[in-house]
Amino acid sequence: MSVDPADQIEAGLSAFGVELGARFDAATTEQELRNARAELLGKGGSLTSLLKLMGRVPPERRKELGERVNAAKSGVESAFEGRLLALRAAARRADLEGPALDLTMPGRVPAPRGHMHPVTRVRFEILDVFRSLGFEVAWGPEIDLEQNNFTRLAFPPDHPATDMQDSFWVRVAGAPPDSRALLRTHTSTVQIREMLQHPPPLARVSGGAVFRRDDDVTHSPMFHQVEGFLVDEGVSFAQLKGVLTAFAERFYGPGTGVRFRPSYFPFVEPGAEVDVSCVFCRAGEASRAACRVCKGTGWLEILGCGMIHPRVLEHCGVDPERWTGFAFGMGVERVAMLRYGIPDIRLLFENDPRFLVQF
Ligand code: DAH
Repeated sequence: MSVDPADQIEAGLSAFGVELGARFDAATTEQELRNARAELLGKGGSLTSLLKLMGRVPPERRKELGERVNAAKSGVESAFEGRLLALRAAARRADLEGPALDLTMPGRVPAPRGHMHPVTRVRFEILDVFRSLGFEVAWGPEIDLEQNNFTRLAFPPDHPATDMQDSFWVRVAGAPPDSRALLRTHTSTVQIREMLQHPPPLARVSGGAVFRRDDDVTHSPMFHQVEGFLVDEGVSFAQLKGVLTAFAERFYGPGTGVRFRPSYFPFVEPGAEVDVSCVFCRAGEASRAACRVCKGTGWLEILGCGMIHPRVLEHCGVDPERWTGFAFGMGVERVAMLRYGIPDIRLLFENDPRFLVQF
């Protein structure tokens, strides 16, 4: 005996009205609610199977039954939406009223910590040694006038360092033709700037970037220097030796040998280069003859120095009959390379973390 599809739909619809509200109200999570909806409207859902019967309903009943089935369907949808909103509102309320989230709790993976770049650290360490010897820290700009970089430092106009090929010249809008500017080629500019601004006695150190048209394994177009100078009454070369020997002992360790070799710089007279005893073969890491760092000489050149030339003092309005002074300058990268045994200066500027974590 086959059941009349129209009767079947009638029966289904009345059963449905009763259970609808209860089923959705019973759902306590969004997932349960969606499951309940699927049981009615999903592929094999009970309302879906009623809809499937519509095709077999006799035409005279089709319109009326169809409207009722559709009404039931939109009833299901709106009951579902209503319950969904209620559940979401309840979840939000529970979130807001529940225990607060502790944002200060430490994470499970420790955040990697950065540290100062080795060049920055060595620069500060050098400045600290001189500060502890009584020098004050001064600052100078990276772009400076030709006068401060060369002329007042008594460079002759044809000195090779002043050549267009050796320095980075900068065009400054509106500057008179006799005041050319460049990226400073050394930090000796700070001597001039400080002496022009402050009367002696003066004891200053300064560190920062300098620029030259150089680029190979031991030269970078940008590198760092520390410059220091002292001007007072009765300053002698003996005091220069004392200060630089104290620096070498503090920076490279007690017992570091120091050697002064005569050398030429236009802004000092007499001038010298200073070597320290090789840190590597002294520590017994290699025999003297086999030491690659000092090339078997036992000495490493670290800086240039000398007694400030009287002409330089005059250029800064300082009377050379009354005042004398000394000055010194060193490359920070070179000092760092010698201290840590770094073979290639470019490693210091590539900023590869695998290199930097080693410091
Ligand atoms: N300015 C020199 C350079 O860049 C280094 C230097 C040498 C600085 C002798 C000085 C000095 O103050 O007295 O090579």
